Amino acid sequence: MLIDTHCHLNDEKLIEREDAIVGSFGTDGIECAVCVGYDLPSSVLARDIASRHDSVYFAPGIHPHDSDTADDEKYAVIRELASDKKAVAIGEIGLDYYYDNSIRELQKKAFCEQIELANEVELPIVLHVRDAYEDARKILFDMKSYINCGLLLHCYSGSAEYVKIFDKLDAYYSFGGAITFKNAKHNIESLSAVPLERLVLETDCPYMTPVPFRGQVNEPKYVNLVADKASEVRGISREEIDDITTKNAKRLFYRIK
Ligand code: NI
Repeated sequence: MLIDTHCHLNDEKLIEREDAIVGSFGTDGIECAVCVGYDLPSSVLARDIASRHDSVYFAPGIHPHDSDTADDEKYAVIRELASDKKAVAIGEIGLDYYYDNSIRELQKKAFCEQIELANEVELPIVLHVRDAYEDARKILFDMKSYINCGLLLHCYSGSAEYVKIFDKLDAYYSFGGAITFKNAKHNIESLSAVPLERLVLETDCPYMTPVPFRGQVNEPKYVNLVADKASEVRGISREEIDDITTKNAKRLFYRIK
């Protein structure tokens, strides 16, 4: 059984089919999924979805796109959500210099503040980093003393070289549909470089739909296609991939029962 470590059932494209999607987890070979927030409303929604289904957990957090909206009032709500027994991480937080939807200084500030918050509530952090690996590296090493509960680089798009650096922080790496794309050479190299004991899988649905469904709405069940590809790239059986990545996800997200 697999764990989809990063999905957005709280997205409007999926929320209407919430019961059907989660209802078929068993037949889809999915043990559970983590529904990730990106701002306050989506974090509250993620908590609500998790409260309705045993097999859904959640992570509250403010995405770098919305860093300019982060303030103490919002952090108070995130802190409150984090105390829920189904909350398994703080995320997604980080830096996105590809879209630059928030000023970079504010992205860095919100990133640091939420690393501190996660440490305070004793949860791991789920990072979204795009075109900003060098600044992310600096912040993570500067704030190393606040990272005591683990970190996951979601949808890892950094290089194999950076894996050697993030390994010093015992980072976990998750891979999704992008590894099935035709031009995935860079991602495949990174997937080959990460330590097996810190590899997890995700869909990031409704985005990043794996081949052959690329272009359609992504769903947690397609994590099976990601697992197939990971098994091929790492040269180990599907059973082993399922077993290892599920164990890893449970070690990192220690509140998963
Ligand atoms: Ni996401």
